[in-house]
Amino acid sequence: MKLTQLATPALVADEKILIENMRAMEDLLHGRKLQLRPHYKSNKCSAIAHMQMGFGAIGITCAKLSEAEDLADSGIEDILIANQIVDPEKMIRAALLAKKCRLTVCVDSEDNARLLSRAAEAAGSLVHCYVEYDIGMRRCGVTSEEDFVRLAKIIDGLPGLEFSGIQAYAGNIAHVVSGEERKRETRANEQKIVSLTAKLKGAGLEVKAVSGGSTGTSVLKAQGGVYTELQAGSYIFLDSTYGGLESLPFKNSLFVLATVISTREGLAILDVGVKGLGVDQDPPVILTMDGERIDGEVQVNEEHLKLFGPSGELVPGEMVKVIPGHCCSTVNLYDRLYLFDKDLVKDRLMITARGCSR
Ligand SMILES: Cc1ncc(COP(=O)(O)O)c(C=O)c1O
Repeated sequence: MKLTQLATPALVADEKILIENMRAMEDLLHGRKLQLRPHYKSNKCSAIAHMQMGFGAIGITCAKLSEAEDLADSGIEDILIANQIVDPEKMIRAALLAKKCRLTVCVDSEDNARLLSRAAEAAGSLVHCYVEYDIGMRRCGVTSEEDFVRLAKIIDGLPGLEFSGIQAYAGNIAHVVSGEERKRETRANEQKIVSLTAKLKGAGLEVKAVSGGSTGTSVLKAQGGVYTELQAGSYIFLDSTYGGLESLPFKNSLFVLATVISTREGLAILDVGVKGLGVDQDPPVILTMDGERIDGEVQVNEEHLKLFGPSGELVPGEMVKVIPGHCCSTVNLYDRLYLFDKDLVKDRLMITARGCSR
């Protein structure tokens, strides 16, 4: 089937570029201390997770317990939930899941650790724990070395749990455009980890893993030699936000196909809006089907995209490729991802964890 025969809006990825991105990541990490534990939030597609394992990933990171369940159900054996599980029912589910795979969760409070320990004991499982360290994002995590060491020691002494490492994700620097500035910030964060690791070792605790990092900091993390796990997710697709960053070895592979449904002087309307495009980051970029950029100001409404002052002729019925502003929030809006080669559809992958937000 031709790409242009898909009903729009449709989520599509250039298969060759997708694979080239996976290979570029494998090459980047070859011979380094840093290993890949890619984030599932970007693709939510178990078939892609398995492709990533084929390109050297040691396991998969995800944000939600239901994503972890989807991954385990597909046969992924090593899963990190890069979040705190505090709901009592979810703690039981996590403890049971830990019997099916090697499960790691993030912890930043003693109460949570004690409840998780009880759930793991009752299930007869072992739940690995990364203590989360807030290195500047102001999201989850403990904020001082003393609190970190104290919590890691408590976890180490609790039945059913194991202190397995440090979770330290600095999403606040993932999209810094300047390569130099991103480098400066990354190295400063790494110094915080070096200092914390020394304290943990001094307290008799082994640091088996330091996990974090994004597509934006992947090259820097590989060179830095401090982190042992890279949680990049967007690198397989990129998007218009990551497309603006300097010095990334990945290319855009993901598009939403849309149809021009109306035109008038200086305005073209596409049949995709926020129900088909993640709009939480930079605006989307519009391309012709041949990949030529169509300049113009973009406004995304519920069901429509308005392109003001488009360069070139656009006619109703014509299809265009839209590079989403944010790949992760876009993928979650679709049931399936079509892989294409030039103008042909090659495969259809189910977004198995679509809507797995619990
Ligand atoms: C915990 C965690 N790790 C890693 C990432 C990096 O993902 P990406 O490479 O898509 O920027 C994110 C992004 O939100 C995240 O929340």
